[in-house]
Amino acid sequence: MAIVGAGPAGLTLAQLLHAHGVESVVLEARSRDYVERRLRAGVLEQGTVDLLRELGVSARMDAEAIEHGGIHLQFAGDRHHVPMRELTGRGITIWGQTEVVKDLIAARLEAGLPLHFEVQDVTVHDVESERPRVRYRHAGADHELECDAIAGCDGSHGVCRPSLPAGALREFSREYPYGWLGILAEVEPSIDELVYAHHARGFALLSLRSPTLSRYYVQVAHDEDVANWPDERIWEELQARTALAGWTLREGPILEKGVTGMRSFVVEPMQHGRLFLAGDAAHIVPPTGAKGLNLAISDVAILGEALVALCRDGDATALTSYSARALRRVWRAEHFSWWMTSMLHRPPDGDPFEERLQLAQLRYVTSSDAAATSLAENYVGLPWG
Ligand code: APR
Ligand code: PHB
Repeated sequence: MAIVGAGPAGLTLAQLLHAHGVESVVLEARSRDYVERRLRAGVLEQGTVDLLRELGVSARMDAEAIEHGGIHLQFAGDRHHVPMRELTGRGITIWGQTEVVKDLIAARLEAGLPLHFEVQDVTVHDVESERPRVRYRHAGADHELECDAIAGCDGSHGVCRPSLPAGALREFSREYPYGWLGILAEVEPSIDELVYAHHARGFALLSLRSPTLSRYYVQVAHDEDVANWPDERIWEELQARTALAGWTLREGPILEKGVTGMRSFVVEPMQHGRLFLAGDAAHIVPPTGAKGLNLAISDVAILGEALVALCRDGDATALTSYSARALRRVWRAEHFSWWMTSMLHRPPDGDPFEERLQLAQLRYVTSSDAAATSLAENYVGLPWG
């Protein structure tokens, strides 16, 4: 197996294949240091946690991650709790994607298995045959790898998807006029559980990474220049959008800040010949539903099982239905992420009709058990399969 990309999708797939005795080589364009520092998502579904445990890479997560049983939705001056564990029996785990990636890299390297960083000029060949090949340059030498299948886990700007023949894939996308300005601040989080705030000045999200690191976001324009946001302006906006009587938002030094534009994107199918796409290489969700990382992991759980059947038992039937199985889950998460995004963000023109619809929906999900359960079961993650 050749795996292109050492993000959560590629690394988890490699670990899963190894657990079942299937050999793989992981090729990553960036340096180990870069991959381990990249600040990304932080909410894990139970299915994700269970798989990381099964793969033996959960020791630090089990010791340090924070369990949450719900989230807060704030609007019209009040904060409402959505008791997800009470409603669904499941909660979420707060643990950075960066930490997941660090542990997967350590496990792979400790086992002495091939994971190459700073690989250049990756190209894929003969994917329509049963012996596809990957060519790449590493440490000054050219290499060619012949394999049973290639996993394109190379994210939204990777090489695998664009290398497929024109017409092989159909693309679906939606652009939003929103971006998130995210900060990592060295301050004790002022919240017990995540706060998603709807506000006339725009959406804000209060999240965390640890008892001493807060991760906060404010809605900005999709192409906002982070240079327009000195620290004081960020805190002022966060304070205004999350203000609540009897509660204060603690401020602290900002360690990192960055803007991410928001979009939804899916390709169908997620496979062509012996090339299989997984994670951000196949789909993007806006971050409002916290689904990106979890989808990447559920893709490779399905793909890994099918690849093991091929490599160990010579049975390719599960592989043929990989895309169809994965896409059912992907589209459910696409809908949920789009819905959460639409409910919480201020449209650029502040359309009052839309604002009234948002508030009606927010009141509904915080007052009806049926509506709250629907949000909760999507947020904590629907059963895998
Ligand atoms: N050759 C080799 N590696 C590449 C190439 C290439 N041409 N192009 C990209 N890559 C690498 C990237 O450097 C990155 O490390 O592929 C990896 C893809 O990893 P991610 O972007 O983390 O994607 P994925 O593993 O699918 O995880 C999705 O990441 O962006 C978040 O919200 C998203 O949480 C979700 C998760
Ligand atoms: C985060 O902690 O980075 C985070 C949490 C919830 C989201 C998105 C991002 O919906």
